[in-house]
Amino acid sequence: MSLLQGKKILLGITGGIAAYKIPLLVRALIKQGAQVRVIMTPAATDFVAPLTLSVLSQNEVLSSFTTPGKDHAVWTDHVALGAWGDLFLIAPATANSISAMAHAKCNNLLMATYLSARCPVMIAPAMDLDMYAHAANQKNLATLAAQGVHVLPVASGPLASGLSGKGRMLEPDALLSELETFFGHTAPLKGKNILITAGPTYEAIDPVRFIGNHSSGKMGVALAKQAQQLGAEVTLIIGPTAIDLTTLSCQVTSVTTAQQMQEQVMAHYAATDIAIAAAAVADYRPKIRMDQKIKKNNQDFQTLELVATPDILAEMGAQKTHQFLIGFALETTDELAHAKNKLKSKNLDAIVLNSLQDPDAGFGHDTNKITYIDKDGNSTPFDLKSKDAVAKDIFSQILKNYA
Ligand code: PMT
Repeated sequence: MSLLQGKKILLGITGGIAAYKIPLLVRALIKQGAQVRVIMTPAATDFVAPLTLSVLSQNEVLSSFTTPGKDHAVWTDHVALGAWGDLFLIAPATANSISAMAHAKCNNLLMATYLSARCPVMIAPAMDLDMYAHAANQKNLATLAAQGVHVLPVASGPLASGLSGKGRMLEPDALLSELETFFGHTAPLKGKNILITAGPTYEAIDPVRFIGNHSSGKMGVALAKQAQQLGAEVTLIIGPTAIDLTTLSCQVTSVTTAQQMQEQVMAHYAATDIAIAAAAVADYRPKIRMDQKIKKNNQDFQTLELVATPDILAEMGAQKTHQFLIGFALETTDELAHAKNKLKSKNLDAIVLNSLQDPDAGFGHDTNKITYIDKDGNSTPFDLKSKDAVAKDIFSQILKNYA
C-alpha cells in the first residue's frame, strides 16, 4: 500500500512559473490514494488553470476569501482547511510568499490558511538563482525552518530568466518522494502485519434463520483504516456487514460463521505481528442446521439445541509466539472485572472494554466509549468519540506497549 493512501494533502500554489508542473503532482497524489485540496494565490491562477487543478484533484479550487452566494458572498473557512490537512505543501513557494509567511502577512487565502494551519507545513521554494541566494530570502527560509516548516531544497539547472543555477522547484517526482519520506517517518507500523477481526458471525438454524448479533463491523473497519494510516499491512476478516468493503484498500476476507472466521484467522496468524479481535463472534451455534425451512407448527423444534463455537481469541492466545494480541470485551455488568478476567484467561497483551451501559457506545453506533486495559491491568478510560477517533486512541496505546 502507498504511504500516501488516505493522506489529506492541502496543496498551496503561489505565483511562479513552476506552478505549471503542479497538475502532474496532483495527478500522482490522487493515483497514490491521497486526497488533495488546492488553494492558490491570485497570482498563481495566471500560471496554471484552476479548472485543470479542480478536475485533477476532484475538488473545488479556492483562491479568495469569499465565493459568490445567492444573496451575499459566502466566507471561505480557512481555519477548517488548515484543520483538514495531514500536511500543507506549498509548491512552488515564491520569494514573495516565503517573505509573507516569515512575517505573518495575511494578504490572501493561502496565507490566512498557512497562519492558522495546525498540520505540518512543507515548502518547495522556486525562484531565480540570485533571488534564492539573497541574504534576505535565506534569512526568511531560516526563520521558517526554525519555526518548524519543512523547507525543501531547490534543484539546479536552467531557470525561466535564461540563467542557470540553484533555484528550480523540485520536479513533481521528487516532491512525491519527499512526501513519501515525510509520511514514512510518521508510519511507525511500516512492515508490520496486522490482523483484525470485525463484525458479527451468523450461525444458521435453517436456510432463512440464524443466530447472530447487532455488530455492524464499524469498529473493526475503523481499526483497519487506522492501522493502514500507520503504515501497516492489514488483513481484515469480517462477518456479514452492510459496510461497502470495496472502498477499503487492505486485504479483506468476508466470512459468515465463527468456524469460517477461525479458519481464516488461523491461516494468517503465524505471519501476524499484531492481532486485534473486534468481532462479536457468536458463542453458540445450533447443533443441527436444517436443510429446509422449519415450519411454524413443527413440534420437534420448540427447543433449539446449541453447541459452542470455537473461541478464536482464546486459540490465538494459546498459540501466541511473537504476536501482540488485543481482545475486545463487550460487557453489561461488572465490566472491568469481566474484562480483566478475559485478558488473563485468553493470554492477551491488552483488552479494550466497551459497555452496553454507555449510551451511543458499542453495537452499530458511529461512536464508542472504551477503556484500554494493558497486560498489567492498568486501565485508561476514554470519552465517547467517533469510532475513527477511538481507533486512533487504541493504536496510540498499543504503540506505547508494543516494542
Ligand atoms: O461492530 P460494531 O457495531 O462497530 O460494534 C463494535 C463491537 C461492540 C462489536 C466491538 O467493539 C466489540 O466489543 N467486540 C467484541 C464483542 C464480543 O464478542 O465481546 P465478548 O466479550 O463476547 O468477547 C471477548 C473477545 O473474544 C472478543 O475480542 C471476541 O472477538 C473474542 N471471541 C469471542 C467469542 C468467540 N467464540 N471467539 C472470539 O474470538
